[in-house]
Amino acid sequence: MSDHVFVTGASGRVAASLIPRLVAAGHTVTGLARSKAKAQRVRAFGATCVVGELSHPTVMDEGLAGAVIVYHLAGGMRGAGIQTPDRINRLGSLSLIDRLEHAPQVKAIVFASSCAVYGDQSGAAVEDGSPARPHTRYGASKAAAEEAFEQAHRRGMPVRIARLAAVYGAGFPFLLEDWIRSGRAWLPGDGTNSIPTIHVDDAVEALVRLGTQPTQHVHYNVADCDSITSHEFYTAVAQAIEGSAPRYWSPLVPRAASLAAARLNERIQSKVAMRPRFTPDAIRLMTASIKVRTDRLRDDLGMTWMYPTARVGLDSILGVQQSRAGRP
Ligand SMILES: NC(=O)c1ccc[n+]([C@@H]2O[C@H](COP(=O)([O-])OP(=O)(O)OC[C@H]3O[C@@H](n4cnc5c(N)ncnc54)[C@H](OP(=O)(O)O)[C@@H]3O)[C@@H](O)[C@H]2O)c1
Repeated sequence: MSDHVFVTGASGRVAASLIPRLVAAGHTVTGLARSKAKAQRVRAFGATCVVGELSHPTVMDEGLAGAVIVYHLAGGMRGAGIQTPDRINRLGSLSLIDRLEHAPQVKAIVFASSCAVYGDQSGAAVEDGSPARPHTRYGASKAAAEEAFEQAHRRGMPVRIARLAAVYGAGFPFLLEDWIRSGRAWLPGDGTNSIPTIHVDDAVEALVRLGTQPTQHVHYNVADCDSITSHEFYTAVAQAIEGSAPRYWSPLVPRAASLAAARLNERIQSKVAMRPRFTPDAIRLMTASIKVRTDRLRDDLGMTWMYPTARVGLDSILGVQQSRAGRP
């Protein structure tokens, strides 16, 4: 069946795979982008696009007009200057929920949350819907946004919360390709922590199922089927792109010192309206150790994974890179 779909964060990386997939399935799509140039890129995927912020009610109402499915992908770890995680994720979600109250035709709202809500579980596995225990400002802001969506769900809004693992795919920053290629991949921690990951094609498959199939639950973990350590993941990336394996700080830099340096960097860069990337959140997220179960995706939604492990997914990206470089 073809439906009309509204996608916030339409200029982002996940949307760049989700929107063409929805269009190919026969849905009509309207995206929300924050500039005319980004809207042009969204239109190239076959969508229409409205231009503005989540906090602009008239733009949001225009985007939501006639929408039956809504994907809320607008969000992120840290913007420039005062664009804190709380402002982007919690307040942004509240703005959307406010406009959704005026869109009774919407039958499914899928919120892109994050496994960061689980915090650091010291390597333990978490079930779908386990309680949030964030240890970063980003995780706390996604957990607060989830809470707002859960309240809306209790009022009858058809909400589904996708707790996404780290998404990778060609060109995704999580791969750290530039650093690894140039031999500059010095990472926090010691590399033994488990990181939940998912290939972007499987993330999109899960999002499509969450938006278009009946669901039994509100919370779904969106990750692949096996765990991998940071060292294994980035060593596999290094092999794939013929770069240098990552090296880890922990034997050299005490954690308190690295967190203090990151705090100072975030304060200075945000004061001059830059987007800080070296932040306490980035350190904590890169060193958190957690495994994620995905029973609900498999059992409720019949999900099958194209890339059940990061090794398989990274191999597929290696193929892309080799053909780009004209190698066999
Ligand atoms: N990628 C991952 O590994 C991962 C993991 C867990 C959860 N998630 C969540 O999944 C969602 C999509 O991820 P992604 O990788 O596609 O992120 P992305 O590439 O960083 O894109 C984020 C999108 O959100 C938009 N945005 C940010 N702040 C906004 C605001 N205040 N108003 C309107 N739009 C705003 C951005 O617009 P501009 O282009 O104008 O900046 C962009 O379109 C995000 O919510 C992210 O937190 C992602």
